[in-house]
Amino acid sequence: MKVSIILAAGEGTRMKSKTPKVLHEILGVPMLEYVVNSSKNSDVEKVCVIIGHKAEKIKEKFSNEEISFREQPMGEDKPYGTGYAVKQAINDFEDDDTVIILNGDTPLIREQTLNGFLQFHEQGNFSCTILTADLDNPTGYGRIVRDDNAKIVKIVEQKDASEKEKLIREINSGIFAFNGGDLKNALGELKSDNAQGELYLTDVIKTLVLNNRKIGGFKLRDKREILGVNSRDDLSVCAEIMKERINKKIMVDGVTLVDPKNTYIETSVKISQDTIIYPGAVIQGNTTIGEGCKIYGTTRIVDSKIGDNVTIDNTLIEESIVGDNTKIGPYAHLRPNSNVGNDAKIGNFVEIKNSNFGDGSKASHLAYVGDSDIGKNVNIGCGVVFVNYDGKNKFRSNIKDNSFIGSNANIVAPVEVEEYGYIAAGSTITKDVKEGQLSIERSVQKNVDGWVEKKNLK
Ligand code: UD1
Ligand code: CA
Repeated sequence: MKVSIILAAGEGTRMKSKTPKVLHEILGVPMLEYVVNSSKNSDVEKVCVIIGHKAEKIKEKFSNEEISFREQPMGEDKPYGTGYAVKQAINDFEDDDTVIILNGDTPLIREQTLNGFLQFHEQGNFSCTILTADLDNPTGYGRIVRDDNAKIVKIVEQKDASEKEKLIREINSGIFAFNGGDLKNALGELKSDNAQGELYLTDVIKTLVLNNRKIGGFKLRDKREILGVNSRDDLSVCAEIMKERINKKIMVDGVTLVDPKNTYIETSVKISQDTIIYPGAVIQGNTTIGEGCKIYGTTRIVDSKIGDNVTIDNTLIEESIVGDNTKIGPYAHLRPNSNVGNDAKIGNFVEIKNSNFGDGSKASHLAYVGDSDIGKNVNIGCGVVFVNYDGKNKFRSNIKDNSFIGSNANIVAPVEVEEYGYIAAGSTITKDVKEGQLSIERSVQKNVDGWVEKKNLK
């Protein structure tokens, strides 16, 4: 069996954060999730995550995932280090398993790379294979030390390296493949006699070499995959690369991104071909967007389903559905559970919440539609308010097909307007309106002659 162990117990002090490092997000997804997903999508059959610092928070975030968590004891008096972390999972693999070690703070590693790496390890019959890379600036990473025959003899950490060793540009990515039995034995030999007083996983290599075990080095071409996140600066670098990766894939699928650098699309989003997205869009979560849509400005769409040929301008859409050929915005807000039909229009400064809004219906300006069912071909005038809340309870209103709600009307729920009901502008409607009726609720207009003259106002 192939088992992965993902190290995620460290505090990540350089992040200067109350959030554990591996829960910091890259395009809406905690970095640990990218590592878990690459692992699950590769040939790995079992995923084990080592947690310690703020363990509960991490477990909570991944409660729906099939992962076995192992807790590393934390505290001043407890040992520390990557070797000690891996020891916590010693009962999660067997002698003849292949164990792959990953880091929760190295989020860009891809499943294809892991599979290639695992194949190399197994075909070469290595006891341990190290994923390495040549870096122009290797500072901070452990260095791969080779003998005169280019055989790997050890890994030396930055803080323990001699001046000569610091010149080595080949680094340890922190990703390893091990023969399960050899790993178990070597972990037992670890000592903390190093600059940081930690149990280094990297010291396992020395032990294996002493025991004449074969060590492989798998050098990575795309070095960006092994970038580690230790600071907010690193986080932004990884986020930029992830964004580029996601956006490239979306463009390959036939979507135009006018300015990919300024378009933020999460990995879970699906977009169909010939949709055009202008700069500033943020598209998140479980969102699907159909064909031929145009999305402009600082639009944010979260967990929503958008049909075909929809135009959206500078709008926030949350947990909602929008039908085909509908136009939304500028500056509209669809709050959760709004279901807007086909050929509809939701215009400037219109807010919709928990409502159905039928095919061909329009609310072009400055309206609030809350907890209501609007039928087909309904016209909602400027400034209409669906008064849905009496301070204690919410009520629904129902406006049937082909009705017309004049500007600035208040519809005080619960109210039903039957088909072809007409509401006069400025009315406050508290009673149901029958099919084909005009409902007008206003006081009679009075014009007073000579009033200004009488008041000496001229
Ligand atoms: C480690 C490697 C270094 C490598 C680098 C790659 C060691 C000793 N050094 O250094 O050779 O070049 O990664 O990024 O292995 N962790 C635990 N428990 C602990 C300590 C750490 O789970 O007690 C986890 C951390 O949460 C992190 C990972 O292990 O996800 C790596 O730890 P970190 O402290 O970042 O190691 P580096 O100093 O980067
Ligand atoms: Ca690190």
